Amino acid sequence: MRAKIRGFDIYKEYLDVRAQISLVEDVRAVASQAPMFSPQTPYGKPMSVHMTSAGTVGWYADKTGYRYAPTHPHGTKWPPIPAAVLALWHDLTGLERAPDCCLINYYGEGARMGMHQDRDEADFSWPVLSVSLGDAGLFRIGNKTRGGKTESLWLESGDVVVMGGAARLTYHGVDRIRFGSSSLLPKGGRINLTCRVVT
Ligand code: SIN
Ligand code: FE2
Repeated sequence: MRAKIRGFDIYKEYLDVRAQISLVEDVRAVASQAPMFSPQTPYGKPMSVHMTSAGTVGWYADKTGYRYAPTHPHGTKWPPIPAAVLALWHDLTGLERAPDCCLINYYGEGARMGMHQDRDEADFSWPVLSVSLGDAGLFRIGNKTRGGKTESLWLESGDVVVMGGAARLTYHGVDRIRFGSSSLLPKGGRINLTCRVVT
């Protein structure tokens, strides 16, 4: 099932439950090597979302700003991007180039992500691929500049979104999650994977 909302390609129920379970195992393996952390925003507030990354670089934030870092805050290399995630990227983007980073976001109860653009990458002609696992999240899509009318949709476990083309710099965010709506993660919560070409 594919829908286009403001230039975002929305693939509802793209991954079956087996594929979702397998991705959660991949995420656990990454997080066991590169533990989740909650970055400080440049404004000094910790993010409510916990995160880690796989790939040659990982997304990171602290007082000095947002950036991609070659190592985990512990000083270790980020684990490689799981093969199933790479396969999904190649299938849905049609690109030969692999992503440099797979950011793994974990939304516990009450976590959210404010409206933002993904703009820490060097070249916005590459798309961003986003995979949702676990509890449903209310995803809001805005405009190319901050503000204005927005549209929202619930992203559920197994849904995949490609943000590319003219919509690559469209504002988006997650207003809230419906904690406990999915049984995929025994302790509840939502995992979102975003793959990006960074350099
Ligand atoms: C993000 O924009 O980085 C995350 C989007 C999501 O959690 O669906
Ligand atoms: Fe984003």
